[in-house]
Amino acid sequence: MIGGNGGHGEVEESVADEVGGIPRRVGVIGGGRMGTGIAQSFLATGARVEVVEAGDEAAEAARGRVSDGLEEAARRGKLTGDVETALSRLALVDSPGDLDPATGLVVEAVPERADLKVAVLTAAESALGGAAVLATNTSSLSVTELAAALQRPAQFLGMHFFNPVPASKLVEVVVAPETAPGVVEVVRGWVQALGKTDVVVKDSPGFASSRLGVLLGLEAIRMLEEGVADAEAIDAAMELGYRHPMGPLRSTDLVGLDVRLAIAEYLAGTLGERFTPPQLLRDKVAAGELGRKTGRGFHDYS
Ligand SMILES: NC(=O)c1ccc[n+]([C@@H]2O[C@H](COP(=O)([O-])OP(=O)(O)OC[C@H]3O[C@@H](n4cnc5c(N)ncnc54)[C@H](O)[C@@H]3O)[C@@H](O)[C@H]2O)c1
Repeated sequence: MIGGNGGHGEVEESVADEVGGIPRRVGVIGGGRMGTGIAQSFLATGARVEVVEAGDEAAEAARGRVSDGLEEAARRGKLTGDVETALSRLALVDSPGDLDPATGLVVEAVPERADLKVAVLTAAESALGGAAVLATNTSSLSVTELAAALQRPAQFLGMHFFNPVPASKLVEVVVAPETAPGVVEVVRGWVQALGKTDVVVKDSPGFASSRLGVLLGLEAIRMLEEGVADAEAIDAAMELGYRHPMGPLRSTDLVGLDVRLAIAEYLAGTLGERFTPPQLLRDKVAAGELGRKTGRGFHDYS
């Protein structure tokens, strides 16, 4: 049920068509790493999922990633039902305008560019019924600024999933000033029905996760620069001393040093110089040491 708008703009009163506590029809725009993980998570819970990818090759690659992810989940005993049945609910479409008008939720996961996100979100909004909820999986852009481009900003928010999506337990629900409180509650219910935990965060640079995670990573890099300890020791201090599952340098390697650098630059510009990237981070990115994906970052993966 998408309920009252709490004075935050117009929301159409409607009962979302649900299966197992999630919308029966879900759209995911962008079938890359995050989009296919999001699609897999909804498929596993019983929804029909349409993934938007432009071009046959990209669409086939996206289908392959979802299929591999479901196979992996089945092997680990994490999939209720069989892979074929889940895959039979997946469709690939060419553009957001092709989404089923009865879609209850669309999550966009196209690359981190505001112009691209605005283009796909406005196209999806025009194609869908008035009750549909639109969400962005952005990790750093302003949800408020994206909302400004939409006709129904009350039904728009951030759903910040984490990588890898099927295994991750967290979704940050990012609330812009115009997001209707009723929509926030509906989306929190959907996150919980996916078997994940929601944290509700006011739209602000870095939300909660990136702001804290990046700051810890940057301080660890500064400690490395100053020769306080080596990378193994700094990570062990947080893993064993504070029970972090992964130390801040290992975590930076997983996310990608280039990705972290871009977020740090953005946060330095919005939140202040405490986020200024250390020279060592810039040097490693320039040298192509981007973390796990290149085999070397602060640790060696070769
Ligand atoms: N990778 C992460 O760890 C992570 C974590 C949280 C959030 N995010 C965010 O999720 C979003 C996607 O990241 P990703 O890592 O999956 O990127 P990705 O590059 O793996 O995937 C993006 C996909 O979007 C597709 N695409 C591009 N333009 C499109 C269009 N007009 N219509 C449909 N599809 C289009 C591309 O073909 C590609 O498959 C970004 O906003 C990113 O900041 C990423």
